[in-house]
Amino acid sequence: MRRPTVLWQLALTALVPMVALVPCARAARFLAIFPTPSISHQLPFQAVMKALAARGHHVTVISTDPLKEPVNNYSDIDLSYSYETFRKSATFANMADGDAIALIRHMTPALKIIVDEQLASKQIQNFLRYNASEKFDLVFIEALMYQAYYGLLHTVGSPPLIGMVSLGGLAFNYNAIGNPHNPAVNPDVFSKNSENMNFWERLENTYIYLWLSQHWYWTILPQQEALMRKYFGQAPPPVAETEYNMSLMILCNHWTTEYPRALLPNVVQLTGLHVREETRPLPADLQAWLDGAEQGVVYFSLGSNVMSKDLPADKLQAILRALARLPQRVLWKFEADALPGQPTNVRVAKWLPQQDILAHPNVRVFITQGGLQSFQEAVYHAVPLLGIPFIGDQPFNVAKMAAAGVGERLPLGDLTEDSLLAALRRLLHDPAYRERMHRLSAAYREHKARSLETALWWVEYVLRHEGAPHLRAASLRLAWYELLLLDVVVAVLLALVLAVCALRRLWRSLRPATPPSQASRRRKDQ
Ligand SMILES: *[C@@H]1O[C@H](CO)[C@@H](O)[C@H](O)[C@H]1NC(C)=O
Ligand SMILES: *[C@@H]1O[C@H](CO)[C@@H](O)[C@H](O)[C@H]1NC(C)=O
Ligand SMILES: *[C@@H]1O[C@H](CO)[C@@H](O)[C@H](O)[C@H]1NC(C)=O
Repeated sequence: MRRPTVLWQLALTALVPMVALVPCARAARFLAIFPTPSISHQLPFQAVMKALAARGHHVTVISTDPLKEPVNNYSDIDLSYSYETFRKSATFANMADGDAIALIRHMTPALKIIVDEQLASKQIQNFLRYNASEKFDLVFIEALMYQAYYGLLHTVGSPPLIGMVSLGGLAFNYNAIGNPHNPAVNPDVFSKNSENMNFWERLENTYIYLWLSQHWYWTILPQQEALMRKYFGQAPPPVAETEYNMSLMILCNHWTTEYPRALLPNVVQLTGLHVREETRPLPADLQAWLDGAEQGVVYFSLGSNVMSKDLPADKLQAILRALARLPQRVLWKFEADALPGQPTNVRVAKWLPQQDILAHPNVRVFITQGGLQSFQEAVYHAVPLLGIPFIGDQPFNVAKMAAAGVGERLPLGDLTEDSLLAALRRLLHDPAYRERMHRLSAAYREHKARSLETALWWVEYVLRHEGAPHLRAASLRLAWYELLLLDVVVAVLLALVLAVCALRRLWRSLRPATPPSQASRRRKDQ
């Protein structure tokens, strides 16, 4: 029995100096779970994962977009088939200026089907069989409706968890990490409001916030809990416990492209991770066409989820008539083979290198659906915007463009030949839009330049401090009525009522004890 102890001591004395030699930023192993089949969600995540791999960490990324060119220390688990399922279960073209609650109602079952299918897939099942015994130091998860994946977190040893969202924070993200979210001043990402809300907008904003919070708590979490039990059995703790246990929340919207708000130290806003600082050469004919636009160019793209070709026929005609009346050239991402009635100043293509086009000095206005990535690219290149919002955070982003005076909002319902032409003319001829955009762009670029570095610092901080439990907000320990101080308000009101009662009693007992009947008779006598 003695000998092994001595051996252990020897081994330990040999190990201690070795451990001391390990540098602060030790190479770690990360597991990332990014289930949404949407490239605009995946791009900012990929940027952070690639940067972690480049720093010598190892990342295993479960996502719908495996890297096209392999990178050292970066392993993909390919769930790209989810794109097909998503296309079948969700349609967006009929959701112009969409209502938040309708969208979430629509997305909840669609995303549940996706998670169910992903967890059943041979890719995930093989990972569980062959790789789950590997040690992971940290897990990243896309913090939307994917809590069933917490089962996976607990099969790899329950390391600290980091939530990531490719948008700004949703009501549920702020709730999960205990960040204050005041609907009086913080417009919801799924609302059409800016931070300047009148009474009705605050009422609507409060309703959206409460609806989303209850939906998250009473619908999403139980649904995901059931799904987690289906694949991981009874072993993992309830999803709600893990949901409230995140070490860090990384958001990919920023106060320059939304609004200043109170943030906990473990809620980090990044921006423009996908925006390239260097521009790539354009195809020669496109370059020549842009160079030759003496009156400037209007660039038009509704992004990758909303297709221009699916616009209602009357709106399409109104757009064509308005564009034909512009002296500018118009470059339009249009997904069909032909555009009947295409005006001569309009050029279409099914796909366009958007960032390099926005970087061209002749591009003067960008007509956009208001997707966050497009918004960020436009701010980076200081191009004023005309927003026609459809779904998700698009109405919110377009409200910001208008509030900041760097763009205009034109809901599809209000779009006519005249309204489109008038809005484009204002944007083209009033220099104030461009001036405000340049000021916003200058601030934005500073934050963009530091975003990746900020992400890496925070991730390694969480790693160094084993989940950084000292950052946990006290609000997570309170019940909702304690957080709203309702218990305190009730106690104070009760104390006031008791004090008033006591004073009245005291007053009565101090008055001369004249029977009231006598007193009134005396008054009459006088
Ligand atoms: C990252 O790759 C390098 C070179 O291939 C390797 O030495 C290192 O161990 C890898 N890091 C991890 C954490 O696996
Ligand atoms: C899973 O484990 C197998 C066998 O050890 C290995 O070849 C494979 O690269 C691992 N996959 C990932 C994504 O780490
Ligand atoms: C909470 O996180 C810590 C690590 O940061 C982990 O040890 C613990 O198991 C987690 N609890 C739950 C319920 O996820």
